[in-house]
Amino acid sequence: VASVFNATDAFLVCLVGAGVPPRLLQTPASPSYSALLLSSVRNLRYVTPGTPRPLAIVAAAEPAHAQAAVRCGRRHGVRVRARSGGHDYEGLSYASLDPRERFAVFDLAALRDVRVDSARAEAWAGSGATLGEVYYAVAAASRVLAFPAGICPTVGVGGHLSGGGFGTLMRRYGLAADNVIDAVLVDADGRLLNRTTMGEDLFWAIRGGGGESFGVVLSWKLRLVRVPETVTVFTVRRSIRQSASDLITKWQAIAPALPRDLILRLVVQNQHAQFEALFLGRCSRLLDHMRAHFPDLGVTQTDCEEISWIQSTVYFAFYSSSKPLELLLDRSGETRRYVKAKSDFVQEPIPRHVWENTWSWLEKPEAGLLILDPYGGRMGSISPSATPFPHRKGNLYNIQYYSYWFENGTAALEKRMTWVRGLYGQMEPYVSKNPRTGYINYRDLDLGTNELDNNVTSYAKARIWGEKYFKGNFERLAAVKAMVDPDDFFRNEQSIPPLPAAK
Ligand code: FDA
Repeated sequence: VASVFNATDAFLVCLVGAGVPPRLLQTPASPSYSALLLSSVRNLRYVTPGTPRPLAIVAAAEPAHAQAAVRCGRRHGVRVRARSGGHDYEGLSYASLDPRERFAVFDLAALRDVRVDSARAEAWAGSGATLGEVYYAVAAASRVLAFPAGICPTVGVGGHLSGGGFGTLMRRYGLAADNVIDAVLVDADGRLLNRTTMGEDLFWAIRGGGGESFGVVLSWKLRLVRVPETVTVFTVRRSIRQSASDLITKWQAIAPALPRDLILRLVVQNQHAQFEALFLGRCSRLLDHMRAHFPDLGVTQTDCEEISWIQSTVYFAFYSSSKPLELLLDRSGETRRYVKAKSDFVQEPIPRHVWENTWSWLEKPEAGLLILDPYGGRMGSISPSATPFPHRKGNLYNIQYYSYWFENGTAALEKRMTWVRGLYGQMEPYVSKNPRTGYINYRDLDLGTNELDNNVTSYAKARIWGEKYFKGNFERLAAVKAMVDPDDFFRNEQSIPPLPAAK
């Protein structure tokens, strides 16, 4: 116990000596430690009394604080977990599975400036900004610019861009990470680097290789994309009695082949399928596409809403376009809940009988839901090695198996976890194989966790989970890691290991 306190004290003294104001440092003894720790936590599974907690939280206010945290952390044996929006599904930005790990949370929430240059169609966003804050700032500067990223407005820029990031503009413009043109990062030596000084290998790795492994990214330069002043959205729901199984079966081939200005997502829950669309154009054109490609869905003019792109971000987040845009700035977001998610990529349409069977899973009291995001369009024309995110051409769609609950206790936990793992297990014959792939931003520790070999993460062990997220890009990620952080300072349960030197 004494050594833990000594390490913490030495770390804190070092930080203060490096110019970090003491008011920005919270330890478990500080009155506001718990409130700060919980401020952006989204998954209550990782805030139980037994969860190993950080020795300290550094509430960063400027870039130099990240340099100090890395240098002092290295000197005093305290690891640094970066936290931007805190949405990691397995809590890796604020909790550790290893009770022996001495770590501090480096919280970037205050580093959230978003500066838009509409003339150049570019913006700089601090990692601590939320997606909602980025969308709001972009739309305030221009009605015809947007940024292609995820749907939930409270997701943090830092983690999201580190893992790829997809949302309703993905079929037209690719991932959030595909639209990053520069970044500022603090590396394992505490140096502040930009794209030129970090070099193209490291710049490649941070745009999709997952958070934490390569340094603390402080800010990102974004390429903004063009959208029309008016876009169209609809949500239509079809029950089992309204041929939901047939429609889902057909959707699998139709949605990835639609024109790239149109995304038709699918949420399957309870006993219905909910089709959600964004079209970069007017309702009349959208209806032409729906009649040509998917007449069975029966979408009509009354289903359409013509709105601005920024209203569409509110629509997808809150299922209503009339809510105030300022909701995008609300960082507190949805009610806290327990969460478990898993994901798959699908390359061949799943047979109808499998969807028929899925309804019995979805009627269980402990059931969660499925979210299906179609690929194709721009996603299919970006090379699988352009960024670490390899799931491009040949993938029809991503499935997210999502379970959430509010009851405390192991009985509820076990029931929900069993449900989500059970359905995922049933789907195995029908999804990507060798390896069965998943999406790093839908973090899933069931795929495997790191083990140490001589105090460095084992490459051989990490390949088990790593190739599922990154396929052939995993080795290159490990080579970059060996180059920029050979001592493995930045690590967590699923961080990239340094590639061992060839023997
Ligand atoms: P958080 O702060 O927890 O960080 C995630 C990981 O990145 C951690 O390992 C952390 O250490 C590391 N990290 C964070 N900031 C860093 C930084 N500045 N530098 C280096 N490493 C850093 N995804 C998607 O693609 N589309 C979507 O629509 C959604 N929707 C969605 C909704 C909800 C409710 C949740 C909870 C999640 C999603 N996601 C998603 C997944 C989301 O993209 C993923 O969880 C991101 O990693 C979250 O980023 P945060 O910054 O919020 O997480």
